[in-house]
Amino acid sequence: MRQQLEKLLREAKEALDEVQNKESYERLFYDILGRQGTLASMSKQMKEVPENIRKDMGKFLNMVKDELVELFEEKGQTFTRTEKESTFFDYTLPGTAKKRGTIHPINQYLEKVLAIFTSMGYEVVHGNEVETEEYNFELLNIPKDHPARDIQDTFYIDKHPNWVMRTHTSNMQLRTMQERKPPQRIVSPGRVYRNEALDASHEAAFYQIEGFAIDVGIRLTDLLGTLETMMKGLFGNEVDVRFRPHYFPYTEPSLEVDMSCLICKQKGCSVCKKTGWIELLGAGLIHPKVIENMGIDSAKYSGFAFGVGIDRLMMLEHGINDVRLSYKSDLRFLKQF
Ligand code: DAH
Repeated sequence: MRQQLEKLLREAKEALDEVQNKESYERLFYDILGRQGTLASMSKQMKEVPENIRKDMGKFLNMVKDELVELFEEKGQTFTRTEKESTFFDYTLPGTAKKRGTIHPINQYLEKVLAIFTSMGYEVVHGNEVETEEYNFELLNIPKDHPARDIQDTFYIDKHPNWVMRTHTSNMQLRTMQERKPPQRIVSPGRVYRNEALDASHEAAFYQIEGFAIDVGIRLTDLLGTLETMMKGLFGNEVDVRFRPHYFPYTEPSLEVDMSCLICKQKGCSVCKKTGWIELLGAGLIHPKVIENMGIDSAKYSGFAFGVGIDRLMMLEHGINDVRLSYKSDLRFLKQF
C-alpha cells in the first residue's frame, strides 16, 4: 500500500507537469482526487491493511492526499486567471459598499437628551457602576432597613459585602458634589442594575440620566421649567406634561412626571395603559440631609434633582415593544438605526 501511494504521488507529479490546458487538468484532478478517483479507492482498501499498521498507513495516506491537493492547487492557479483577466479592471461595475456600524439606539437617545441639557449649560459627568451601599443608599437618606431598598434589589459582589451594582445614577449626586463647590449643573448618564424578573418591560441592566442643579435660591419652579424644556425638546411642543406628588427619600418635596401619550393622543391605548399618560421620571428638591452629606451648607444652598430612564423613551420613539431587544446584539435589530 505504501508503495502504491508513493507511486501515485510520483505519477501525479509527472502527469501534472505535462498538463497544458484546463480540460486535461480537470480530468487528471477527477482521476486522482475525485470521488471515484484513485485516492478514494485506495482509502477504501484501507480496511484490508493489517490492523497493526493501519493507523500509520492512514496517516501516510493523508499526507499524500495533502501533498496532492497542494500540487493541484498550485497548478490550478495557472488556469484560473489569464494575464488579461488579472489586469483587466472593469470600472463600470458597481462598487462594494463598506459596511458601517451605527450608534446603538440607546446611545443615540442618550446623546439627544444630553444635548438638550448641555445647551442649558449643564456639564456631563460619567460615573461608576460598582458602588458602595453608602453612596447608593445611605448618603441618599435610605438607611439599611428602609423599604425603598426592597424595590431596588440589585447584585452584590462576592468578598465585598458593602459593594453593589448601583441601582440608579443618583449616586453621582454625592460623588460629584463631594468634590465640587456650588453652583453646579450636572447631568450624569449611565448604566444601572436591578435584580428583576426579566420580561418585555424589565431588564436587569438599563440606562438612566441623573440631573441636578445646586445653587443659592433654587426652587421647585426651576425644576418644573427645566423638565418641561427637556420634554418639549424631546417630543415637540404638542406634548403635555403632568406633575404628581410622590415620595423619594432623597428629595423633599418629591414628584413624578408624566407626559401625555402621543401614540393615542390621550384616547387610551396599551402603551399608556389606557390612562392617556406615560410615567417618565422621578424628581424633587434635594433633601437637606442629602445636601449636608455632600458637604454643602443646606441653610445657604438648595437644589433640584431628577432621574430619567432612557430605555423606555427610546422604545417609545421607535415603537419598540420589548426592552430586551436592546441588549441582545442582534444585528437584525441594530441595523435598523
Ligand atoms: N433614583 C430614582 C430611580 O431610580 C429616580 C430619581 C427620583 C432620581 C427622584 C432623582 C430624584 O434624582 O430626585 O427610580
